[in-house]
Amino acid sequence: MPTEKKSKFIVFEGIDGSGKSTQVKLLASKLLKNNISHVLKKEPGDTIIGDKIRKLLSEDSDMSSLTELFLFSAARKELVDKEIIPALENETLVILDRYIYSTIAYQGYGRNIDLEYIHHLNKMATSDLKPDIVFLLDIHPEISSSRIDSKKLDRIESESIEFYSRVRNGYLEIAEANPNTWMIVDASKQPEQIHTQIWDRIY
Ligand code: TMP
Repeated sequence: MPTEKKSKFIVFEGIDGSGKSTQVKLLASKLLKNNISHVLKKEPGDTIIGDKIRKLLSEDSDMSSLTELFLFSAARKELVDKEIIPALENETLVILDRYIYSTIAYQGYGRNIDLEYIHHLNKMATSDLKPDIVFLLDIHPEISSSRIDSKKLDRIESESIEFYSRVRNGYLEIAEANPNTWMIVDASKQPEQIHTQIWDRIY
């Protein structure tokens, strides 16, 4: 008889201002309340090297699209090897705020880098580790941009509505092509309503 996999790998994706981080926090606090042990991580970062890369990526400096791609991939390699794989091997529930799909959407659809290169790099960085569930917090870029404080925008958040429309379309294409794994959530709804939808999908 096949043994049931105890670990679960859950990913959250969405454009900046979609409310993704709020949902991650709501889920983590509900898991805590229910005594369900879990590991919560965020890309890029959450390793010594990854945190340095995150800082580099957010600084307001001129950076080529390929440099950006390599930096996100390097941060991901560190996180997957040092945190995600060990946690899953330990049969822990892993929640990850952004994963390979951010690179496909932002660097692929947003920056127009060849998707074949990106798929190859993503595979190298993750040993092709795939999540069990991906929640896409979907929202129109006009709405998401109004949620972000315009005085605190970082390098990527300062991109145009057109850029974010391409990123959003990229996410929707991936989600629609993978309906068994992906759940598209209407991120313009109330946070508690979205949270209930997410919880019901997991449990
Ligand atoms: P955050 O705001 O969710 O912390 O994400 C950091 C920023 O980095 C956000 O603007 C999305 C962007 N990003 C990419 O462009 N490609 C990636 O692969 C990842 C993980 C994030």
